[in-house]
Amino acid sequence: MKDTIILGIESSCDDTSAAVLRGSEILSNIIAGQAVHELFGGVVPELASRAHQENIVPVVSTALSEAGIQLEDVDAIAFTQGPGLLGSLTIGTSFAKALALATNKPLVPVHHMKAHILAHFIDDASEMKPSFPFLCLTVSGGHTQIVRVDNPLQMEVLGNTIDDAAGEAFDKAAKMLDLPYPGGPLIDKYAQLGNAQAFQFSKPRIEGLNFSFSGLKTSILYTIRDQVKLDEQFKETHLNDLCASIQNSIVSILMDKIEKAVKETGINCVVIAGGVSANSELRKRLSAKMEHGWKVSIPKFSYCTDNAAMIAMAGKFLFESGVRADQSVSAQARLAW
Ligand code: KG4
Ligand code: ZN
Repeated sequence: MKDTIILGIESSCDDTSAAVLRGSEILSNIIAGQAVHELFGGVVPELASRAHQENIVPVVSTALSEAGIQLEDVDAIAFTQGPGLLGSLTIGTSFAKALALATNKPLVPVHHMKAHILAHFIDDASEMKPSFPFLCLTVSGGHTQIVRVDNPLQMEVLGNTIDDAAGEAFDKAAKMLDLPYPGGPLIDKYAQLGNAQAFQFSKPRIEGLNFSFSGLKTSILYTIRDQVKLDEQFKETHLNDLCASIQNSIVSILMDKIEKAVKETGINCVVIAGGVSANSELRKRLSAKMEHGWKVSIPKFSYCTDNAAMIAMAGKFLFESGVRADQSVSAQARLAW
């Protein structure tokens, strides 16, 4: 039997992406980022939709040509239905619907956060594939969750952030340090050269498996404000130590809860997904858990931040289990799990 070929389309935030998947192998994964948001210190939804509209046709045609696949060879078109920015999602959704109508191909709606998790099943995503059931720490710019995954189509959210997401905490802290958006990767970079114990910030005390980052944000803000009063150059001269201490605090919050989840569920196969899973300290601390008997799967960098390869992979699972959308489907900024 011939391998299924899926065209995946992602446009939930500020990356326009298209990918072609054959079986579980990625043939192409094209991502057009949007530098325009750097000027504003965060994603400007109106500008994001406009850029998606400009990028989507060239991104999809490059994905097909790089994969060496004709549109008629594609078995289904998978697209991100939500969650995300409505204007951004609408561009990808409308494009996918039009393409499906024009080519008479099945249309498969994908949940962006579930796709981050299912990225692990792409052939070259990680050295070790997770085995069911497993726990996923899903950490991105908009979400921070612990998810129990029983099979590709059955997932349950065990814990959620009650305020900011982990990526948001990184980005807001970076903004306080006058770093451009998105600040997460820059904090990671400068942290490599700093002392993680240099500054202590407050730790949240939140019940169960839920997360909170707003107290930490305030604590970082006050520390910087007080120190800048004493020394105007404080942020510049202590940048590396500040980044290392901030990163250490955020990663400790994440690790504490995932440790608790492993204890409570008895499931010791743990994976990470979402943009913040690119963070080197989180990857290091999680990998170290293998010495304590955990089975850990860490995805390749290119499958951590937003990409259409994961949409195609999730789309394949859904397509093969018969999930289809018709032309009445619409983008959903808040798509339920
Ligand atoms: O999953 P993603 O690409 O987009 C969303 O769906 O939100 O995640 C983006 C987030 C941003 O907040 C970015 O700062 C963060 O992931 N991020 C990182 C790193 N790389 C990306 N945060 C910390 N360390 C990194 N290396
Ligand atoms: Zn994402």
